[in-house]
Amino acid sequence: MAVAHGGPVTPAKVAESVALVGTPLYLYDEATIIAKCSRILAMPNAFGLHVGYAMKANSSRAILELVAGAGLGVDASSLNEARRAHLAGIPLHRVMLTTQEVPSGEDRVDLERMVAGGLRYNACSFRQLEAIADLAGSRDLPIAVRVNPGAGSGESVTRNTGDKYSSFGIHPHDHARAAALARERGVHIGAVHVHIGSGGDPESWRANIDRMLAITERHFPDATTLNLGGGFKEARMPDERPADVDALGRYAKDRFEDFAARTGRRLTMVVEPGTYIVANAGYLVTTVIDRKSSGSDGFDFVVCDGGMESSTRPLLYGSRHPFYVVSRRGALRSSEFVAADPGEPQAPRVVVGRCCESGDSQTLDDHGHIVPRPMADPAVGDFLVVGGAGAYVSAMALVGYNSHPQAPEVLLRRDGRLQVIRQRQTLGQLIVNERSLEG
Ligand SMILES: Cc1ncc(COP(=O)(O)O)c(C=O)c1O
Repeated sequence: MAVAHGGPVTPAKVAESVALVGTPLYLYDEATIIAKCSRILAMPNAFGLHVGYAMKANSSRAILELVAGAGLGVDASSLNEARRAHLAGIPLHRVMLTTQEVPSGEDRVDLERMVAGGLRYNACSFRQLEAIADLAGSRDLPIAVRVNPGAGSGESVTRNTGDKYSSFGIHPHDHARAAALARERGVHIGAVHVHIGSGGDPESWRANIDRMLAITERHFPDATTLNLGGGFKEARMPDERPADVDALGRYAKDRFEDFAARTGRRLTMVVEPGTYIVANAGYLVTTVIDRKSSGSDGFDFVVCDGGMESSTRPLLYGSRHPFYVVSRRGALRSSEFVAADPGEPQAPRVVVGRCCESGDSQTLDDHGHIVPRPMADPAVGDFLVVGGAGAYVSAMALVGYNSHPQAPEVLLRRDGRLQVIRQRQTLGQLIVNERSLEG
């Protein structure tokens, strides 16, 4: 597995982590996360770069502490995420809030307190802009606006956030109106923001830079920052190609320099990767608990103790993640990465979980059809390990479905220690807020 993505997670470490907390569990690798932070901070740029980690990808406290320690800020997608980042010790001025929420009541009071305390606010709709205008205008607090540029790209249509099918941001017909409102209310738009989707075509990301510079020039004359969002495609599977972040940076650098030569405006660049930082630093580790077959014209099922409730991505998106079969003693039996595979005989098999749901499978295409995958013949008690599971896996888990609790998280530290960063949720914690009819 170390061969797959370059990190130090080995089959022996998998067995060790299971001995520590049982399965299912999420296992993360600090060295990979830190290396990704360093690489993104070195992204070519013209007049300065800030990186905000999109904490929705993986919001565990220890992960936030790692990325913040490595020099990244945070992109929060809800008031609670902003609060959570702050509770993890990240100063408000290093957090930007980009949300669909329009807080009211106590939440609004809290938002205003946080913005006054340094939280960077990104108005993502005309209504949000109106709601923050008095505070931002009267205290001269620069804010950002999230623009929907009218074109986007994502790994699936459900992850395209930049076109008319997406509700995100201020849409093209409202750009001028938003700029006018800011002028009238004395609001300083210091940054223009966009996020066109996750895992989309790098060509679209490139085209988006030109589009955003044009929008910034036309509507937002005071902006000193252009935030290009996240969305860099990572390769989880051996046949996938990741976005070339350096090439995108070089393109952005040239375009920002042209823009400066034409307008005199030297814009700072911001990017907000989530997937890029953590996707290939994480593994979902499950135990094979049963084997079944639907007959000679059917499928060979590998039943695991973690499925859709632990990783919903295959069911939600048809996402493919690499499988590793690891013996209970910690030896690799098969890997979808040829370089690592030990060469045991393999056959196509279907990985399923333990939820009462036909869709509880890790081997689905984007129409929900089963697509068997080659692997060794796992024995009950072996570990089925799912790679590329650091982003949008534990964070998007369907905690509580079929009453399965939230799985624990373990971090492989750079010195080789395994550290539990989240305990397994107990049944008591799962039902703690329920109330009996008896009162
Ligand atoms: C505003 C914003 N920025 C950044 C990201 C991170 O995207 P990714 O994890 O694909 O890098 C997202 C993801 O949805 C987002 O909504």
